[in-house]
Amino acid sequence: MRPMTASPPTLNLVGAGRVGRTLAALWQAAGVFRLGDVLTRSPDSAQAAVAALGAGRPVSEPAAMRPAEVWLLATPDGALADTAHAWARRA
Ligand SMILES: NC(=O)c1ccc[n+]([C@@H]2O[C@H](COP(=O)([O-])OP(=O)(O)OC[C@H]3O[C@@H](n4cnc5c(N)ncnc54)[C@H](OP(=O)(O)O)[C@@H]3O)[C@@H](O)[C@H]2O)c1
Repeated sequence: MRPMTASPPTLNLVGAGRVGRTLAALWQAAGVFRLGDVLTRSPDSAQAAVAALGAGRPVSEPAAMRPAEVWLLATPDGALADTAHAWARRA
């Protein structure tokens, strides 16, 4: 079990729309995760998501994502399979 004083695990977001932002906000508020890098389709929306969440680092390309304990893929259904395959290849 993780000690109470340990920093929460880092969460990276791929897709930060309704689901990504909502879950990230709730998990952050509850101290479940600490937000790491945020990647969306456009750099502007990654910036906006980070500003709204008050945490995280906006990233404009997959190669710039740093490691994290947990990754949330929250892209639209049509992009989900491609996104998952791309990240599986990177892993
Ligand atoms: N909304 C719901 O109530 C709900 C409920 C249950 C499940 N879901 C599921 O949750 C997933 C996300 O839904 P959502 O409603 O949150 O979608 P959304 O509001 O449209 O947000 C999608 C996010 O994904 C980003 N994105 C799109 N293509 C990308 C790519 N190739 N790489 C990285 N980021 C990409 C978008 O960036 P840009 O802003 O730059 O376009 C946006 O930040 C879907 O699979 C959906 O079926 C949604």
